[in-house]
Amino acid sequence: MKFIFLTIFHNLMECYFKDSILKRAIENRLIEVEFINFRDFSKNKHKRIDTPLVGGGAGMIIDNKALKEALIDVKKRYANIRVIFLTPVAKKFTQKDAIRLAKEESIAFVCGRYEGFDESLIEEFADEVLSIGDYILTGGELAALIISDAISRNIEGVLGNMNSLKEESFEDNLLEAPNFSKTSNAPLILKSGNHKLINKWKKITAYFKTKFHRPDLLDDFKAF
Ligand code: ADE
Repeated sequence: MKFIFLTIFHNLMECYFKDSILKRAIENRLIEVEFINFRDFSKNKHKRIDTPLVGGGAGMIIDNKALKEALIDVKKRYANIRVIFLTPVAKKFTQKDAIRLAKEESIAFVCGRYEGFDESLIEEFADEVLSIGDYILTGGELAALIISDAISRNIEGVLGNMNSLKEESFEDNLLEAPNFSKTSNAPLILKSGNHKLINKWKKITAYFKTKFHRPDLLDDFKAF
């Protein structure tokens, strides 16, 4: 998987891939990352990439020149690339999206700043637009890191043990059952060795955890 980040703040992002699981995934050639500073594509004397809003309104947006050139360049280099714009004006990213997007060959994340993007860029280039939640960040960089992280762990080989992906939260619209270490005061049932009973306990506790923390998920819950 190739991740390309179009951003004017690559310093904010690069360190995330320099340690732990994603560092190892890069070393093992399971993922590759590239950062494109779209300011480099600006033909403006002062390398400006922002513009006031047409029709009035506070703040500035990313204009449709430098970023457009950068996107044309990326699409020329990667024919099958999936282009994702990060913006709060979008569908909320979920675990299902992470699993779906892990099957792509390459993904370009377009990270906005200021008040967002010129809409014509979204119309022309976006395969999809994603938000990470109902709050406004100072830019799309954190959103792109969160989404690329969630995608990466669903790529075969990135997690040492693929079994880690089983019984995770959001499977079947339930949160994960609580976990305990050996030395803690774990419920006796988990120490019983009776796997049928343990699985039943896990399902029931997962259900009640979900009912307490995220009752909205149960709207789509199908019975055990
Ligand atoms: N940019 C600013 N806020 C955002 C959010 N909530 N999700 C994705 N991109 C954003």
